[in-house]
Amino acid sequence: MRIDVIATADEAEEQKVKGKLAVVIDVLRATSTIVTALYNGCKGVIPVYDIERARSKACELEPLQCLLGGERKGIMIEGFHHGNSPLEYTAESVRNKYVILTTTNGTKAIHHAKTATDITIASFLNGQAVAKYIGRHFCDQVVMICAGTEGNFSLEDVLCAGKVIDELINIRNDVYLNDLGIAAKDLYANNKEQLHNILSHTFHYSRLVSLGFDEDVAFCMQQDIYPIVPVYVDEQFIINEKSSC
Ligand code: MLT
Repeated sequence: MRIDVIATADEAEEQKVKGKLAVVIDVLRATSTIVTALYNGCKGVIPVYDIERARSKACELEPLQCLLGGERKGIMIEGFHHGNSPLEYTAESVRNKYVILTTTNGTKAIHHAKTATDITIASFLNGQAVAKYIGRHFCDQVVMICAGTEGNFSLEDVLCAGKVIDELINIRNDVYLNDLGIAAKDLYANNKEQLHNILSHTFHYSRLVSLGFDEDVAFCMQQDIYPIVPVYVDEQFIINEKSSC
């Protein structure tokens, strides 16, 4: 199995993604929010690249059946129901609803993944489940797309790619990595017990803390609390029932 880790959404060009399994990672906070909403019972998460498209998608659905969520530069979008805090996506607020989500980097990374054969979503919250899913179901080409932050590399996303790889090599002995994959694996292996320490001075982590989102950051650093694997079907993420354990 060949795994290439890509550092930013912008670098996920079609020829690096097409025909592969894409694993999209935006730990702070889009992919943590998506898995939380799914775990808490939403019908599906519809990722949308831009704000206007999100609003028009909401008009196509029954108002009581959908929830508009998202942010730009960390701040909730005017007129939306929720921002991009996973803590907002409680069972009470999402159950039996579609979540339409647009975020600065995360939904952009998903957009760049669309030529992949299959797309899934990873975060620290569900990393082990994603590794098991890849280990059992895919044996060829995998690309991990780290969303990054506004075009720049983000350490938390690469660490999370390292986590999925670390879990995967416990299951399979045929994993071949690109250089960023090797760096991610080693970085995670050396820091898995102290994610906060290594991340606390990084750009997006610090920005979220300065905006008052300390609880979100702490929440997103939890590992393997959700045994679910989102899969992209008909333009939305749903839980893959077969691979959730
Ligand atoms: C993004 O997609 O850029 C992030 O999830 C930003 C955020 O922390 O809300």
